[in-house]
Amino acid sequence: MRLRLLFVVLAAALMVGALFLHPPLWVYPAVFALIFLFYANTFSERVPLYLSNRTTWAALALVLDGETIAVGRRPAFVDLGCGLGGTLAYLARARPDWDIVGVETAPGPYLIAKARTAFLPNAQVRFQTLWKTNLAAFDVVYAFLSPVPMPKLHAKVAAEMRPGTLFVSNSFWADGQPYDGVIEVNDTRSTRLIFSKK
Ligand SMILES: C[S@@+](CC[C@H](N)C(=O)[O-])C[C@H]1O[C@@H](n2cnc3c(N)ncnc32)[C@H](O)[C@@H]1O
Repeated sequence: MRLRLLFVVLAAALMVGALFLHPPLWVYPAVFALIFLFYANTFSERVPLYLSNRTTWAALALVLDGETIAVGRRPAFVDLGCGLGGTLAYLARARPDWDIVGVETAPGPYLIAKARTAFLPNAQVRFQTLWKTNLAAFDVVYAFLSPVPMPKLHAKVAAEMRPGTLFVSNSFWADGQPYDGVIEVNDTRSTRLIFSKK
């Protein structure tokens, strides 16, 4: 619903701009290119771009601290749909002992996330759909998506994640799926991090 509203508002703003401001012709393809770069996957996936905030990043860093990892290997975190890479950059700096991975299919956010983490040796951004990401490779899997993909994502989590690993979802959880707890983040959005231990 919110997604449709966003596109209606965008379309209305474009029409009003075109009617009253008479912009040069190149503005139209430029605006469409910009929308494509950032929202190319939105219609197919039903997941718009909105971002975790810094307080949530700090809460996730504490979650990583709480995970016990077998000695002798580096633990790994993945952000499924990493957006502009803010979560990745924060966690890669805060937890240099972890490998921090993000996957993203919208070209604009992917490029920004890639640039933002370019000099962080323990961060990696892949232009890859979350549906083709093997979750068995990770100790903590994080997602901030929308209600639409959650039933399918829960099935993927159940099929792929190893015992003892942790799935954390910001705000959304599939109806009827059990969970082990909720972290109430003390931010202005009252963010809820819902988690289940495999
Ligand atoms: C709500 S944003 C969250 C961004 C980031 N995880 C954060 O917490 O700030 C969701 C992101 O998922 C991306 N996305 C949607 N479907 C995807 C898919 N199938 N594979 C990878 N990324 C996807 C969107 O492009 C968007 O950047």
